[in-house]
Amino acid sequence: MPIDTSSQLRVLFTRQQIATRVAELGAQITRDYAGETVVLVGVLKGACLFLSDLARNIGLDATFDFIGVSTYGAGKLSSGEVRLTKDVDTPLQGKNVIVVEDILDTGCTMTYLTKVLQAAQPKSLRIAALLDKPSRRQKPIQADYFGFKIPDEFVIGYGMDYAERYRNLPDICVLASNEQ
Ligand code: IMP
Ligand code: MG
Repeated sequence: MPIDTSSQLRVLFTRQQIATRVAELGAQITRDYAGETVVLVGVLKGACLFLSDLARNIGLDATFDFIGVSTYGAGKLSSGEVRLTKDVDTPLQGKNVIVVEDILDTGCTMTYLTKVLQAAQPKSLRIAALLDKPSRRQKPIQADYFGFKIPDEFVIGYGMDYAERYRNLPDICVLASNEQ
């Protein structure tokens, strides 16, 4: 799928590698919550594709909700500030909530979100992040379920964007640094 031939893209994880890992995460969640119901709360917009694939690999009674935050501006640099742009639509009190996120980077977004979601008094709250960049962490937060640990590189595709583009790439790619 040629999107922009002037962009420098290097594939980091192929769609097959992603599918295999997401299936493993779904199986793990299915085992961990056996006999329970779960609410998957996707963080817009980056986690949409991960949530839709993960959900199909979870063999439990599950519902979806979505939450919106804004951290990054139009480019790659984070302002460090997190703002809620959309709250969940359903009550989470007494529910097993799994926040589904594309990538844990500095941890600022997830630290903020766990506070917001804990305030709704769920029965349990866990984090599923497709990618983890541990070297960038500023807050002491970890994912309960993660797909892949990656080095400090800016990635796009499979839901993740650079200035809103590339979310529809089926593979996870690194955007070359001359794109900054
Ligand atoms: P954090 O608050 O620094 O952990 O940032 C988390 C959010 O930043 C993620 O949900 C992504 O939306 C975005 N982000 C962080 N790293 C990348 C990247 O490499 N590519 C695309 N988005 C990223
Ligand atoms: Mg995000």
